[in-house]
Amino acid sequence: MIRFSTVMLSLTTIVGLSQGALAADAEQGATLAKRWCATCHVVSTDQQSAGGQAPPFSAIGKTTDLDTSKLALFLLLPHPKMPDMNLTRAEAADIAEYIKSQGK
Ligand code: HEC
Repeated sequence: MIRFSTVMLSLTTIVGLSQGALAADAEQGATLAKRWCATCHVVSTDQQSAGGQAPPFSAIGKTTDLDTSKLALFLLLPHPKMPDMNLTRAEAADIAEYIKSQGK
């Protein structure tokens, strides 16, 4: 039996390591967000509206204790209402960095 906590721990380690190796790039994240996320989320200030009840990135980015490595991790895990977008770790980190920048 693989325990959930073990999987979470190793995923955290992997994401942590990859962030050390590659600096996250918010500009790349913006491109990815506009391609993959804009159908449901308002991803930038120049976007008027989006499809569903998904929170805008500016609101997510304002979360006071927003941790980009946790956010990147969240993006790699299947999410009930969100499709599995098969993002790479680097892409997830870039998007997380971009979301954070939208909260400023
Ligand atoms: C098919 C529609 C859809 C797409 C595409 C989508 N999302 Fe979401 N997302 C949602 C919905 C709906 C929620 C709210 C889920 C809930 O409340 O349970 C959500 C929630 C989130 C949350 C959590 C917000 C919070 O405060 O808890 C994050 C972060 C997020 N999405 C990021 C992204 C990113 C980044 C992308 C693109 C890579 C993306 N989403 C693409 C529908 C989508």
